[in-house]
Amino acid sequence: MTFTGHTILITGGTSGIGFGFAKRFASLGNRVIITARNESRLNKILAENPELSGFVSDVTTLEHLSALTEYIQDKFPRLDVLMNSAGIMRAYDLFAQLPLSVLTEEINTNLTGTIAVTQALLPLLTNNYGTIINVSSGLSNLADGAHPIYNLTKAGVHFYSDALREQAKYFGKNLRVVELVPPLVAETNLEEHASTENPTNMKLSDLIDETLLGLENGAERIDAGFAKTLHQMGKVNSEENTNKLSTQMLGNYFPKEKGER
Ligand SMILES: NC(=O)c1ccc[n+]([C@@H]2O[C@H](COP(=O)([O-])OP(=O)(O)OC[C@H]3O[C@@H](n4cnc5c(N)ncnc54)[C@H](OP(=O)(O)O)[C@@H]3O)[C@@H](O)[C@H]2O)c1
Repeated sequence: MTFTGHTILITGGTSGIGFGFAKRFASLGNRVIITARNESRLNKILAENPELSGFVSDVTTLEHLSALTEYIQDKFPRLDVLMNSAGIMRAYDLFAQLPLSVLTEEINTNLTGTIAVTQALLPLLTNNYGTIINVSSGLSNLADGAHPIYNLTKAGVHFYSDALREQAKYFGKNLRVVELVPPLVAETNLEEHASTENPTNMKLSDLIDETLLGLENGAERIDAGFAKTLHQMGKVNSEENTNKLSTQMLGNYFPKEKGER
């Protein structure tokens, strides 16, 4: 195992995927800093896991971002890995006349938040021959109908990651950009509908194992577990697959009464 000796910042590190990686990275001999909005949950985690450092920070708030950047530059100037894991997921009926502020919450967190944290820390990361791990989703490959905004934010994270990687190569920057594409992982707080019974569900420890392997093998994109299938479904017969997946997911999230059209 060679992924050791790094200084790693994980946004959204107090729960689910981010927290799982924080503990594993720390156990491998890395310095790990986690961020999230909820201060009491962060403090509880830091008290229970003294090997971790933490900072309260909302990826959607510019002042928080400046404070985080200053904190990292001051306390962890050798930061060389950023994992953008902070994210939210919502199922919406697009015909329900929801306020725009509700519909754009995922864009601000998942997409703009990822871009904002990355851009703020790019100078430090490139100076330190750094790595960025952007957490997208298997749902970046094709729309599932039920999460219309989530889908587009994750597709955005995918294209932003690709563009950043290509620019790093083109401009000769010391930066590795990795896109981590997880499938459904039920041991998280992302969504209450996530079921441990789902056959496509991946165990968090398996996701971390597969990611570490990819990181060590120089992968630029890590499609974990069922995300490999979703990747193919988005490439081959994507219209048909989108329709099939969406019909199933919309039925799960917005079930119709018997006889309703
Ligand atoms: N779980 C899955 O099946 C799955 C599958 C594919 C991709 N993903 C992606 O994996 C990432 C992690 O999700 P998860 O499943 O681990 O969810 P989770 O258990 O709900 O954890 C989300 C984390 O993000 C933090 N967060 C949310 N909004 C934030 C904000 N505005 N600023 C800073 N931190 C924020 C949360 O803490 P606070 O609420 O305290 O801020 C929490 O620490 C997300 O990007 C998600 O889209 C998850």
